[in-house]
Amino acid sequence: MIKFLLGLVVGIGLVLLAGYLFATRGGIFMGINGGPLPLEQSIAEKAISASIGESSHDQSPLPADETNLLAGARVYQKNCAGCHGGLDQPESALAKRFYPHPPSLLLPGKGVTDDPVGATHWVVKNGVRFSAMPSYEGKLNDAEIWQVSLFLHNVDKLPSSVQEVLRQRSD
Ligand code: HEC
Repeated sequence: MIKFLLGLVVGIGLVLLAGYLFATRGGIFMGINGGPLPLEQSIAEKAISASIGESSHDQSPLPADETNLLAGARVYQKNCAGCHGGLDQPESALAKRFYPHPPSLLLPGKGVTDDPVGATHWVVKNGVRFSAMPSYEGKLNDAEIWQVSLFLHNVDKLPSSVQEVLRQRSD
């Protein structure tokens, strides 16, 4: 029994050592080209969902009315469109130069309209490790983070006044 356990520990140690040596001797290309590693996407997605956890049930203290959607669209144009795309350029040129690519959030069927608004609020507040997604805590106040999250949740059914904000240039 002792021998079996010892073998198991040594075996696991060797696998970890092999992984460490593989990664640190150039086995993992750290430039943006080259595509995902085996299991990279599924592990990253599960780790993000687990980190969001119960926060996905958080409800916005603000209603998704025209005032808040307008404010959310302005926050988006100023802070997010450069990476996540604007109406004029839904797939931002900068996005292609990051890995992972920032997803287009305005294109129908591609954004986060299906995600709970609490999950979007968590991502915007905390950012995403190992990606270009910044944390906006301290940069935007909590009301602004909820407004941009409500805006993204409703991006497929925006009133025309809000669509107008998206047509204006951000600068
Ligand atoms: C510098 C580029 C950059 C900026 C600026 C940026 N993001 Fe991101 N964002 C990313 C990247 C990259 C990801 C993908 C992270 C990943 O793959 O997990 C991302 C992911 C997201 C997601 C999750 C999308 C999904 O499919 O689950 C949301 C929501 C989001 N960003 C919202 C925003 C908002 C709102 C702003 C502005 C307040 C913003 N981002 C600004 C790069 C950026």
